[in-house]
Amino acid sequence: MTWQKVAEKGEIPAGKSKEFAVNGKKIAVFNQNGYHCLDALCVHQDGSIAPGKLDGDIVECPLHFWHYNIRTGELLDYLKGVKLQTYKVEARNDGIYVDI
Ligand code: FES
Repeated sequence: MTWQKVAEKGEIPAGKSKEFAVNGKKIAVFNQNGYHCLDALCVHQDGSIAPGKLDGDIVECPLHFWHYNIRTGELLDYLKGVKLQTYKVEARNDGIYVDI
């Protein structure tokens, strides 16, 4: 894993998220009480969770409304023990970095 800059500072407003393509992966970065990063594609049918509705730490996949914890990647519906990969995120002076 290496730290990579994915966004400029301020590019993801508080309470919002954005999808990025890094190393051939689609990741979602959330700015919700700190930055959180996880794989963007829902395990159901590969919908992107990045534009999903946020309620606290929970994001709802916009396609069929499955829910994930954005801190742990844990799927909260249907399949127990299934998680999206999470990544460390740092807000630095010159941007947002993800360890991927
Ligand atoms: S693709 Fe996410 S719930 Fe179906």
